[in-house]
Amino acid sequence: MKLNLDRRQFLAGAAGIALMARAAQASVPTLTARPGKARVVPGDYPETEVWGYDGGVPGPEIRLRHGDRLTRQLVNELPQATSVHWHGLRIPNAMDGVPGMTQDAVDPGGAFLYDFTPPDAGTFWYHSHNRSTEQVARGLFGLLIVDETEPPEVDRDLSVVLEDWRLTETAAISDDFDRMHDWSHGGRIGNFVTAAVSPNPAALKRHERLRLRLVNTATDRVMVIGLHGMEGAIVALDGMPLATPEGADHAVLGPAQRADFIVDVTAEEGSKAIVAIHEGEEGFVLSEFVVTGSQSAVPRGPIPVLPPNPLTPLTSASGAREVPLSMEGGAMGGLSEGIWQGERMSIQDLVQNGQVWTFNGVAGLPEAPLVEAAKGELIRIPMRNDTAFPHAMHLHGHHFQEVLPDGNLGPLRDTLTVARGETRDIVFRADNPGDWLLHCHMLSHQAAGMKTWLRVTA
Ligand code: C2O
Ligand code: CU
Repeated sequence: MKLNLDRRQFLAGAAGIALMARAAQASVPTLTARPGKARVVPGDYPETEVWGYDGGVPGPEIRLRHGDRLTRQLVNELPQATSVHWHGLRIPNAMDGVPGMTQDAVDPGGAFLYDFTPPDAGTFWYHSHNRSTEQVARGLFGLLIVDETEPPEVDRDLSVVLEDWRLTETAAISDDFDRMHDWSHGGRIGNFVTAAVSPNPAALKRHERLRLRLVNTATDRVMVIGLHGMEGAIVALDGMPLATPEGADHAVLGPAQRADFIVDVTAEEGSKAIVAIHEGEEGFVLSEFVVTGSQSAVPRGPIPVLPPNPLTPLTSASGAREVPLSMEGGAMGGLSEGIWQGERMSIQDLVQNGQVWTFNGVAGLPEAPLVEAAKGELIRIPMRNDTAFPHAMHLHGHHFQEVLPDGNLGPLRDTLTVARGETRDIVFRADNPGDWLLHCHMLSHQAAGMKTWLRVTA
């Protein structure tokens, strides 16, 4: 048949295509960053004005099956530009959500389509990666759960989103997001910690088996989270299954870190099972559950091992290219000068520009990457903390393992806390092409200079 395409038909056709595109876009689920209200402090306090995904804090729990695709149209209804970083996911670079590096920040009124397939199952999270000291503190984060194809058998699967709030006397978020005193010390630490448990059970039964997915969304606070009236083990860290569950009644979580526990409720009927935060000798209840009856199926037997992910741990660091990283600066850090935006500056000038920390002598993003790795190369980074504070080091797009003093490798992680004076050595296979951040996830420290980047060539 002869194809007779005149201009009129062509226009009609093009309009048709445009309409179809709009229809297709309309069916993409949205994730709207916007102001909202949340009940943060119970009792007579007013609700707290927040910025949240779909207006809530935490944002909607995004849950999919391993192998499923995730599509979300970020819509920005905030008064500031924003972006979403999918923390801990080994996804294509263009989906990583880092303004100025992998995408432009989305202006107020704008939108951006995130579309990828998470390669691993586990507990992940998403959060703003623009002006994150402010935007995460205001509430822009949520949990992302990728369910294993064959999940372990538990009676309840609960997420526990830990949040650190700095509130005023009227339960408003204190808007001192860029105080140099915080930035140069331990970061912006709040005065009210909460745990959002979802779904939140009215009561628990003795001997019930729970999976608890803990995530520390704090901008800067390291949390020691204790589980009381429950017994079990950590089965995954930062989304990645442990080959052998690690018996534990608490977890130390730096900002951005996750721990999945599987526990059995051991509290007696009539007493309580408790999630608490511990500070030195003191403990504060974050969540408590009355234990009302007994689960029939007892005893439960050993804590199960999660099925392995496609990313399997390395067994040796041998042959890795070594690229050292030294952290300097901050209060009591003795930094006298550093390079910022290509210019050598005195500490006074750095402070003027809000920069007080350096990686290898450079504050903020250096012009050249820390390392340019060929795809598949093993990279080893000894990270020396020459400062007076701990730092939660996070690598984008990859999980790494710690090279332990005995030469063995630790579990896969995406964030590792390095205490003052320590050197912690990490190794990973650079197999995800693109430009990736390596930064301190104490977001105040990141804003004040603690960031660098790596390039993995295709
Ligand atoms: Cu969770 Cu660069 O971030
Ligand atoms: Cu830090």
